[in-house]
Amino acid sequence: MIYETIVTTKFKGRFNIAPMGVSFPQIGMVTISPYNTSHTYINLSRTGVAVVNFVDDVELFAHSVVTDEIFPWFPAERVDGWVLEGAYMYFEVRVRDIRWGEERSSFLCEVLCEGRRRYPYMFNRAQALVIEAAILVSRLKIYPREKILTFFSEYEGVVLKTGGLTEKRAWQYLKGFLGGGENL
Ligand SMILES: Cc1cc2nc3c(=O)[nH]c(=O)nc-3n(C[C@H](O)[C@H](O)[C@H](O)COP(=O)(O)O)c2cc1C
Repeated sequence: MIYETIVTTKFKGRFNIAPMGVSFPQIGMVTISPYNTSHTYINLSRTGVAVVNFVDDVELFAHSVVTDEIFPWFPAERVDGWVLEGAYMYFEVRVRDIRWGEERSSFLCEVLCEGRRRYPYMFNRAQALVIEAAILVSRLKIYPREKILTFFSEYEGVVLKTGGLTEKRAWQYLKGFLGGGENL
């Protein structure tokens, strides 16, 4: 099972934020699998630490997939890292093993400390669609743009029907990034 999270890292005072799918191969361990071209990969390779943020605010996914905007945060306790204020739960992690791949590598990490801050708001269709849309936007270089636009026009009705303000804003933000115009 892959959980969509936001991984924050830091290197030489520079903050990085990126949505990343993670899995739990065993209790107390998390696997993060960034593409070797990503800043997350570079930072994890250099520092060996990260914070895995679990968020239900899909605007964080929409924005962090296309920008390096820094959202409200507080310092992590056990690693030199930063935790998103918007996280309902987070794991501070340290890399224990790396499986290097040609395109993508897997960092097996130990959870050093868990923060549980509040209950999440889950299982909303618009939230799931914004996350899917964010993934498609992140693959703009490898997916046909037409296919992504079709996804947006097909599911916009569901986002408008089931989403709240946050989901609608996130959807519009991603649409705006695609530059799809009014008829999307
Ligand atoms: C929900 C979601 C999950 C993602 N999961 C991954 C992942 O597991 N590995 C990866 O390399 N990129 C993943 N991406 C794409 C990265 O977030 C995206 O390429 C980002 O720009 C990388 O940022 P960075 O260079 O700052 O690390 C995902 C995107 C989204 C929206």
